Amino acid sequence: MSKPEILQMGPYPSWDEAPLSEAFVLHRYFEAEDKPALLRDHAAGIRGIATRGEIGADRATIEALPNLEVISVYGVGYDAVDLDACAERGIKVTNTPDVLTQDVADLGVAMMLCHSRGMIGAEQWVRDGSWVREGLYPLKRRVFGKKAGVLGLGRIGYEVAKRLAGFDMDIAYSDVGKKDYAPDWTYFDDPVALAQHADFLFVTLAASAETRHIVGTDVINAVGPQGMIVNISRASNIDEEALLAALASGALGSAALDVFEGEPALDPRFLELDNVLLQPHHASGTFETRKAMGKLVRDNLIAHFDGKPLLTPVN
Ligand code: DGY
Repeated sequence: MSKPEILQMGPYPSWDEAPLSEAFVLHRYFEAEDKPALLRDHAAGIRGIATRGEIGADRATIEALPNLEVISVYGVGYDAVDLDACAERGIKVTNTPDVLTQDVADLGVAMMLCHSRGMIGAEQWVRDGSWVREGLYPLKRRVFGKKAGVLGLGRIGYEVAKRLAGFDMDIAYSDVGKKDYAPDWTYFDDPVALAQHADFLFVTLAASAETRHIVGTDVINAVGPQGMIVNISRASNIDEEALLAALASGALGSAALDVFEGEPALDPRFLELDNVLLQPHHASGTFETRKAMGKLVRDNLIAHFDGKPLLTPVN
């Protein structure tokens, strides 16, 4: 039997791509100079899409492929996949939950610590000789015992909160029907009230049309001039204009961000601010997790084409 044809939307590490290309004929969309021509030439043959969370698959791509059956997302977030377009045609969607939870939570907490203690600047202080010339590095803010807000207590938010509890932080959370997770932590229905509580507000919500810009001016101002927002979810959860304005004016103390609207191209105003920690959307970026993600992408596609139940279906 011939191998099923798959449209590959973005690059994967070589160790993830090799097993995929053993099982499937891959059409590397991201490398194609003439993308519409690639879609036209292979439209009839392509039965699956392998994509990444931040790339997804839009309606135009889905509609260009009349025999598309399944979309396998390398990532837990599938907000960039047009689920309505999939539902109209019964196209299945899978993602890679669970395998990345610990690493994403680790990076979020590391970003809080790193930024709060000024570690990027401290490294520079050593390297550029400031330590010798000027002596003590400027004092930074404590994390231990402070108040944390976790906006979105799903799998990742829960793991973040558990880690923060290790710093004796007073933990509160909002959303998403998981109130029974943590009876000892404080529940706030209203994100503004959560932000008022928090010295550190972690945004860990799965992104959707409903959560778009849920962190707007009112939430940002409630975190306040001494507070920090950490975003390890999706940029769309935060109103980036409002965030930039608050960081520039000092209405918000600082932010630590792994995700950006229009990434990898950043709004250049971010580069001018020194109260923001900028990370290149790599919260799941460890060898261990990326290997597990690649395996899930492949195994879901294989299960589909073998007529077996999907391992991690979304819809
Ligand atoms: C995820 O898993 O959703 C990551 O953010 C990659 O898109």
